[in-house]
Amino acid sequence: MDCRVVIIPGDGIGPEIVREACKVLDRVGQVYGHSFSYTEILMGGCSIDAYGVPLTEEALETAKAADAVLLGAVGGDVGNSRWYDVAPNLRPEAGLLAIRKGLNLFANMRPAYLYSQLQAACPLKEEIIGSGFDMVIMRELTGGLYFGDRHTETVNGLRTAVDTLTYNEEEIRRIAVKAFDIARKRRKKVTSVDKANVLDSSRLWRAVVEEVAAGYPDVELKHMLVDNCAMQLVMNPGQFDVILTENMFGDILSDEASMITGSIGMLSSASLNETKFGLYEPSHGSAPDIAGKDLANPIATILSAAMMLRYSFDLDKEADAVEAAVRQVLAEGYRTADIWAEGCRKVGTAEMGGLIAERIH
Ligand code: IPM
Ligand code: MG
Repeated sequence: MDCRVVIIPGDGIGPEIVREACKVLDRVGQVYGHSFSYTEILMGGCSIDAYGVPLTEEALETAKAADAVLLGAVGGDVGNSRWYDVAPNLRPEAGLLAIRKGLNLFANMRPAYLYSQLQAACPLKEEIIGSGFDMVIMRELTGGLYFGDRHTETVNGLRTAVDTLTYNEEEIRRIAVKAFDIARKRRKKVTSVDKANVLDSSRLWRAVVEEVAAGYPDVELKHMLVDNCAMQLVMNPGQFDVILTENMFGDILSDEASMITGSIGMLSSASLNETKFGLYEPSHGSAPDIAGKDLANPIATILSAAMMLRYSFDLDKEADAVEAAVRQVLAEGYRTADIWAEGCRKVGTAEMGGLIAERIH
């Protein structure tokens, strides 16, 4: 199979981790007889430096023409960077929001899984961890507060800011359908998270999710309020299979879920539209403090590349092989600094990528 991939190394640790993911993809290509071709585009701070905007029209068009996009990370140190002394729509993160919207990537899938080898890095007590957890957060990605009207004005002499949270039923339905489809391939449980005791948008969310659920009698649906969900994630994470939620709640809950896996450096993600096209990226940020030092953990990006194989190219066997190679490297005791523990062997970004690539059979 010929796979045309657009890569967006981005800022900070982005280029280092994307390099390792490409190393792994190339190895998959050799072993299984596929070819991966890469076209690089700029997004984020590096695009601001080159073109004055975080994402150019041409870059977006190039991404659209590919089969899939692999992204490292964008952004810099907010308190201390020339990229942030400008209007919000010109900052690095605006590039990310523009590519999500421009490619209609409404379904963001963030798996949170506790590797048995990383139990020691999990901040939860053993009795809470139990036999571990394995969940997927399905976050709506192109609606809600992130894309509603916003402005700041003076009202009665007071500076007043407005952000708008809007969802229509179609936006809710299409992400709910994705969540139920995925639940069907897993443990068949959807927890839909909202704030229906306060928000109209959540009441509509709940009603539409119930309509969708009627078409999936084999999948169990539970509703949960977002504040309770935040608590349940650290009290009993094993109860969750698929969490379905809106954009802002999903942003917050996915960081919480990632932390209980031991390191945000392990979490992959896929952003999908109605087709096979997807944008794949680690859930973590650009970590400018460790950029260029060979310290970053490339595993989240490598696992994102595995998601790309599975969801954009239907290469399940190859995706399984990448995931197995990651487990094997962890079982052999290799760790980057963020997941290192006594008795393990500390390796850098490039060595970790190489070790994983070598173990793909
Ligand atoms: C994420 C990030 C982004 C978001 C930021 C960088 C705009 O936190 O992907 O979770 O809020 O969606
Ligand atoms: Mg986030």
